[in-house]
Amino acid sequence: MKSVLDPGTIAPHGGELVDRRAPVEEREERLGKAAELPKVALGGRAISDLEMICTGVFSPLRGFMGREDYESVVETMRLSDGLVWSLPISLSASDEEANGIDEGDEVALVDGNDRTVATMLVTDRYGYDKGREARNVYRTDDGKHPGVAALYRQGNTLLGGEVTLLVEEPNTRPFPKYYFEPRELRALFAERGWKRVVGFQTRNPVHRAHEYIQKSALETVDGLLLNPLVGETKSDDIPAAVRMKSYETILNRYYPTDRTVLAVFPAAMRYAGPREAVFHAMCRKNYGCTHFIVGRDHAGVGSYYGTYDAQHIFDEFDEEELGITPLMFEHAFFCLNCGGMATTKTCPHDKDAHVFFSGTRVREMLSKGEYPPPEFSRPEVVEVLINGLKAQQD
Ligand code: ADX
Repeated sequence: MKSVLDPGTIAPHGGELVDRRAPVEEREERLGKAAELPKVALGGRAISDLEMICTGVFSPLRGFMGREDYESVVETMRLSDGLVWSLPISLSASDEEANGIDEGDEVALVDGNDRTVATMLVTDRYGYDKGREARNVYRTDDGKHPGVAALYRQGNTLLGGEVTLLVEEPNTRPFPKYYFEPRELRALFAERGWKRVVGFQTRNPVHRAHEYIQKSALETVDGLLLNPLVGETKSDDIPAAVRMKSYETILNRYYPTDRTVLAVFPAAMRYAGPREAVFHAMCRKNYGCTHFIVGRDHAGVGSYYGTYDAQHIFDEFDEEELGITPLMFEHAFFCLNCGGMATTKTCPHDKDAHVFFSGTRVREMLSKGEYPPPEFSRPEVVEVLINGLKAQQD
């Protein structure tokens, strides 16, 4: 029997890629009927979740989670059938919306402009404990954590059920040149003959440390998927449009084009650290990656998580059930004594020789037009960031 980890045959999570789009010829009629249905308004994150469900990035999910899956995910990091899934993908409704909806109803899902984008057959309508979700998923109930704050802002009722997308794009596709659905990326990898592909998640520009761990991984596989998250992020993260320019710049100059693909990851950032690392890995598996990079404080924020918590969480699963291999990297830095990038695994020198800047400090410098040293970030990248941020401020 072939293992799911056989190169070139990586199975989507749960076995098959989900596609929840209504056939094109049925959409108009279905949209007409949907006009009569009770409405549920989707915020930015729910729209992005809908897009990810319908295009298969969240396979095996076919809709927003019902009560059983929600409870199971919050408590055990597994769907009710036992499949690994670490973050709840739920749809909240305001009291006003929820009051008009019963289990068994079909509802219209509308975007911020009141445009119907999908329908959902509501199989579950349920209350939930936000504090418990916060503590289990985010490991804190502190309302200052951006993911917890978003959870506290949600409506008090969750609606679950399969969705059907009725429009081509629920969201205007960001960066269309770099937008690929899972089936498109899988085809691209196959066309290039890549069997072993490493995925890299980021919400930041590519700094030297990122480049080092990406290229270290690339030494042992066929291709690198640079897969920056471009959905909602917190307001002090560098905007996606500025980051995209910086990725183009660094890829053009320093990466082998025949071994690298730049594609956007249109998910919203949750900042759930360890649990989000597992979730990120499952999504990249659906895109066709066989390996996934997890470095220091993956998807972390502030000091809510230990530096390597997002690596340790993978010990709770066996490789077969994950179906994608996490590649763990220690904190990487430029060492002035080594004269190159390293980690404590490969560098014997004292901390004083290591060039280190916190993300906050770097953002501060960039917004003032100051260049962090070349040992931290390539000057070409810094230039793009400074100009991009300046243009946004003007
Ligand atoms: S994240 O929220 O998307 O994880 P970021 O863009 O900073 O944030 O990180 C992208 C990936 O690079 C993550 O896997 C993270 O753990 C890793 N990473 C970031 N900086 C370093 C570093 N200095 N050393 C090792 N890994 C790092």
